[in-house]
Amino acid sequence: MNNTTIGFIGAGNMANSLIRGLLAKGFQPSSIIVADVDNEKLEVLSSEYGIRLADNQSIAREANVVVLAVKPQVIEEVCTNISLQADSSLVVSVAAGTTVALLEKWLGNSTAIIRSMPNTPALIGKGATGLFANKFVSGKQKDLAKALMDGVGISVWVENESDMDTVTAVSGSGPAYYFLFMEAMQETAAELGLSDDVAQQLIYQTALGAADLAMQSTDSTVELRRKVTSPNGTTEAAIKSFEADHLRELVRKALTAARDRSIELAKKSNK
Ligand SMILES: NC(=O)c1ccc[n+]([C@@H]2O[C@H](COP(=O)([O-])OP(=O)(O)OC[C@H]3O[C@@H](n4cnc5c(N)ncnc54)[C@H](OP(=O)(O)O)[C@@H]3O)[C@@H](O)[C@H]2O)c1
Repeated sequence: MNNTTIGFIGAGNMANSLIRGLLAKGFQPSSIIVADVDNEKLEVLSSEYGIRLADNQSIAREANVVVLAVKPQVIEEVCTNISLQADSSLVVSVAAGTTVALLEKWLGNSTAIIRSMPNTPALIGKGATGLFANKFVSGKQKDLAKALMDGVGISVWVENESDMDTVTAVSGSGPAYYFLFMEAMQETAAELGLSDDVAQQLIYQTALGAADLAMQSTDSTVELRRKVTSPNGTTEAAIKSFEADHLRELVRKALTAARDRSIELAKKSNK
């Protein structure tokens, strides 16, 4: 990856995290170039990391990997105002909802494009990212994009672009579901007499511990749950209450609503 130049168009939160991830992996600052409309942001990035500054078109000309790290509202303007170098560039978009077909329309039909869907924990290096590549992306380019996204957490490939709508519903929006659950637990813990501080510490650490345990264990979540649930015990009382109130059905409806909204939003931006 070290003879590759990676250029970022857009120097906001996501670009910052990706750059930090690359540097932590030993990627050379001199091989990273960044452009943004906000010069102040660029100066901060340059003095903090020693990376190079440029404009959008210079990045399109020089970088082997062009990361589109701007908001979806400006991505069309950015794409239609750049012309990529030869055939060797790879474009990685992190813009939610912008389809490969649209990016191909704006950048040229045979452009190698990877669409990615990171989530907000990427900002602290704990992201979960879904990746989809069009048919022009080579194996080496796929490895590069995966290494880029793995710098801010983990990433997984999906076979069909339509799966990106489900990725959006699962991991893109997912952090908010866990926050909502934690919020609800905190409200009840307070009602049941715990101080906010005590409740918060216990709830945050429990979420972290449960996720870590699930990741480190060879047991499925069903089995892990069974191990905490002794017959007639406290956990069983709560689980029975959740099941009686159709928690699974609520989750199914919520994720399906998010998936459908993702499809709807993509259709709107396709018009
Ligand atoms: N943040 C996340 O956790 C997250 C998660 C998943 C996906 N994403 C995706 O990542 C992308 C970037 O998100 P972000 O949170 O990093 O946004 P951000 O902080 O707003 O960064 C975008 C940057 O691009 C700049 N910009 C605007 N127009 C430009 C242009 N024509 N040329 C060059 N730069 C331009 C913006 O400048 P101004 O501020 O001056 O406009 C801003 O500095 C979005 O598409 C978003 O959907 C983000």
